[in-house]
Amino acid sequence: MGVFLYISFLLLSLLCISNAQRITDKMFSQIAGTSCFRRMNATHVTGCSSEFRGSHGVIHVVKVQEDFEFFFNKPPSPPYAPVIPPHLFTRENIMRLKENASDVISGIVLTGSLKNLVTFSHESKCPNQFSGLIAEQTCSVNDAENSWNPFGTGLLQEEFPFPIFLVDTEKEVAKIYDCFEKFNKFNLDGQNMRSLCSIEINSFMSAAVNSQVCIRRSNMQNNLSQTTFCDPLQGRNVFATLFPREIIPPEERRVDPEEKFIVLSTRMDTTSMFDGEGPGAMGSLVPYTVLMTTAHLLAKILPEKKTPDQTNVLFALFNGESFDYIGSQRFVYDLQHGDFPNKAHQTRPLALDNIKFLIDLGVLDTIHNLNLFHATDFATANEFGQLMSKYSSKFSLNITTINRMQKNLPPTSAQSFLRENITFPAVIVNSPPTNHFYHSIFDDEFNINFNYGNTSRNFLTLEDLEAPSADFTANSIQMGIRNISSILAFSLYEMITGEEYRKQLGASSIFADEFLYCFLVTAQCPLVDAISPDNSTLYPFPPSRYISVHRSPNQRSMVWTYGIFGLTVGQKMPDIPRENCTIPPLIWYPGIDRQGECHRTTQNISLAVSPAFIKDTNYNWTSGRYSTWTESTWSAISARIFLRPSAHHEAMTLAIGLIVMFFSFIIVYLINTKSDVLFGNSPSQEVISTTPARC
Ligand SMILES: *[C@@H]1O[C@H](CO)[C@@H](O)[C@H](O)[C@H]1NC(C)=O
Ligand SMILES: *[C@@H]1O[C@H](CO)[C@@H](O)[C@H](O)[C@H]1NC(C)=O
Ligand SMILES: *[C@@H]1O[C@H](CO)[C@@H](O)[C@H](O)[C@H]1NC(C)=O
Ligand SMILES: *[C@@H]1O[C@H](CO)[C@@H](O)[C@H](O)[C@H]1NC(C)=O
Ligand SMILES: *[C@@H]1O[C@H](CO)[C@@H](O)[C@H](O)[C@H]1NC(C)=O
Ligand SMILES: *[C@@H]1O[C@H](CO)[C@@H](O)[C@H](O)[C@H]1NC(C)=O
Ligand SMILES: *[C@@H]1O[C@H](CO)[C@@H](O)[C@H](O)[C@H]1NC(C)=O
Ligand SMILES: *[C@@H]1O[C@H](CO)[C@@H](O)[C@H](O)[C@H]1NC(C)=O
Ligand SMILES: *[C@@H]1O[C@H](CO)[C@@H](O)[C@H](O)[C@H]1NC(C)=O
Ligand SMILES: *[C@@H]1O[C@H](CO)[C@@H](O)[C@H](O)[C@H]1NC(C)=O
Ligand SMILES: *[C@@H]1O[C@H](CO)[C@@H](O)[C@H](O)[C@H]1NC(C)=O
Repeated sequence: MGVFLYISFLLLSLLCISNAQRITDKMFSQIAGTSCFRRMNATHVTGCSSEFRGSHGVIHVVKVQEDFEFFFNKPPSPPYAPVIPPHLFTRENIMRLKENASDVISGIVLTGSLKNLVTFSHESKCPNQFSGLIAEQTCSVNDAENSWNPFGTGLLQEEFPFPIFLVDTEKEVAKIYDCFEKFNKFNLDGQNMRSLCSIEINSFMSAAVNSQVCIRRSNMQNNLSQTTFCDPLQGRNVFATLFPREIIPPEERRVDPEEKFIVLSTRMDTTSMFDGEGPGAMGSLVPYTVLMTTAHLLAKILPEKKTPDQTNVLFALFNGESFDYIGSQRFVYDLQHGDFPNKAHQTRPLALDNIKFLIDLGVLDTIHNLNLFHATDFATANEFGQLMSKYSSKFSLNITTINRMQKNLPPTSAQSFLRENITFPAVIVNSPPTNHFYHSIFDDEFNINFNYGNTSRNFLTLEDLEAPSADFTANSIQMGIRNISSILAFSLYEMITGEEYRKQLGASSIFADEFLYCFLVTAQCPLVDAISPDNSTLYPFPPSRYISVHRSPNQRSMVWTYGIFGLTVGQKMPDIPRENCTIPPLIWYPGIDRQGECHRTTQNISLAVSPAFIKDTNYNWTSGRYSTWTESTWSAISARIFLRPSAHHEAMTLAIGLIVMFFSFIIVYLINTKSDVLFGNSPSQEVISTTPARC
């Protein structure tokens, strides 16, 4: 009997649990999307976080500017979660919600669609404003004319007391709109009388205050649980040299002052407000492609040194430059400490004095129009400007270059060098900023008018610059990159060899096409295929280029850049078979036709972690000397919509519950006191009271 009861109780409770599961499924509907998150520097926190158990708010769709007034006029059923289209996600509107309505707002949902959108950039008007040549900077956030991102809103540098959730698929947006129309849209004043469609956003960030506090808390020795609240932003820089460098035994490892380098650099990262979204096409991928195309061309036209003491070229891609120049600051720091390249590389370390000239590529929004910025006057800068103009007109590439000596320099990696020594020989190649979507989710392939050529042709052969292109229109992005890369490579060629470049062969627009396709559209592309080992899985989406907190060298954009350098800058060694091509610098690549080829490579990686986070340096957090950006940890980001019962409904339920409880007490009391009347003498009582018969 007992066993039977027990089993039926178990079955009943199982039934209840499964039923409950079905009820939650009915009550909640997941919404796919991503969220804004927290980053901190030494003194501030930026970004947003939800409550620990998620933030709940009644959905209120904002369609026109006037709809915002609803939140400022004592809305009936707070808290609310406004659903805002991108064109209304302006600094004015969001700051007004933050400052004057944060008591009735528990979250914001941003819907993503490019319709009617003129500008959308959350970066500051002066990116990296506090880490450049502080004294000399004249970039002004109040003066668009004099700023490097005139369309910036600076929301990326703000902290919000509520989460901001991005929903960018139409299907998910429709779900939210439907729910709003059905339950919330009518009779707004009476909203508190009925059940309302609400959203719950889960994006709790464990870090707070600033990097210093957070790092200290994470390092606190707690033997029960090692909790990490935040991680320094970190990644890897990728570099390659045009000519291989001598391999030397460790004991002879010291700087050779005779070794001379020209550095061609740009950044490889980008950022945006939302986790995992932000292709950075115009903002950083175009100069990135120009650097890779130039490196390829130069390695083809100048495969080996003509004289033994010839100047070498270092192609450097810095990571994390969007966050106060993490990669280049570390690069300079390593140069100063004899740590670049790292000891394990078996080559001589380099020092700042080995760098004869630095060409740093900034944004290239208008490809016809290049400004060559430099902080001081020096001969190489003028020579470089003249060479660029010369080759542009020689091949009628229609690129105007203007030398500009000024203190207000574009926010690029060169600042990290000039900050150490203002007379450092650096030139920044930058076109006037015209990107309306800098560091935003909309800086994508459409922003640069990219149309994939899909030529299926060999992207490693050079092009005749005099012949018209069969694949791309004259003003396409591929042709623009080809044109700039060609004159850059020719100028470098002449600076290194002292001879004019006399051939007609220039950079490959097909290479630019394939590179952009892999990094903007999908990794299932010919270029990545040519460097990936057999049977490796390639995903149908592009790599993320936000620096993030990668502790191991596995960021895909970095791994591919490393491989592409090997394929394009590394020289082919036709005589070495695969089995003898296993130890770096010899690396085996499948190649375009997947027949396989051995390359003698020169590329490698270096750490991109701010010097502020090097252990035992006792960094002064308030000095502003180095980047101090960290990213909060979080467990999961999700959102779901559900029907929140009205306050009346809840009060009613509570009242009924209380009444039932009250009556049940009375009934139990009555039954208890009158039990002998109700049930009579129980047989068990008799058994206990009678004395045992057989004693
Ligand atoms: C907030 O309201 C105050 C007073 O109405 C006003 O002065 C202020 O400009 C508002 N803040 C924003 C960001 O609109
Ligand atoms: C944690 O454990 C280490 C040794 O395992 C000990 O030295 C240290 O004092 C402990 N710290 C705390 C806070 O208990
Ligand atoms: C050069 O580029 C400008 C745009 O910057 C364009 O107006 C002009 O027609 C071009 N000239 C030639 C010869 O292509
Ligand atoms: C700055 O660089 C110049 C030349 O590159 C050099 O002569 C000078 O000594 C450097 N100054 C410092 C403070 O390192
Ligand atoms: C490129 O061309 C190939 C065949 O020529 C085709 O299968 C593929 O779908 C094309 N890719 C794109 C993105 O158009
Ligand atoms: C690139 O150069 C060609 C001449 O070879 C010119 O016709 C074309 O307009 C240029 N395109 C761009 C985008 O600069
Ligand atoms: C790749 O996969 C094919 C079939 O799936 C297999 O025959 C081949 O051995 C694999 N190659 C390598 C290098 O693993
Ligand atoms: C490959 O390396 C082995 C051992 O070093 C050597 O004996 C062999 O000749 C090499 N093969 C070729 C084709 O160079
Ligand atoms: C890159 O550096 C590592 C040491 O950190 C070295 O083992 C490796 O051979 C280098 N790669 C190339 C291609 O030179
Ligand atoms: C840290 O830097 C700040 C600002 O430059 C300075 O005022 C302070 O004295 C420094 N602290 C130490 C301990 O050096
Ligand atoms: C941290 O960021 C805030 C906002 O972007 C800025 O005002 C502040 O100066 C920065 N602090 C440091 C040390 O860079």
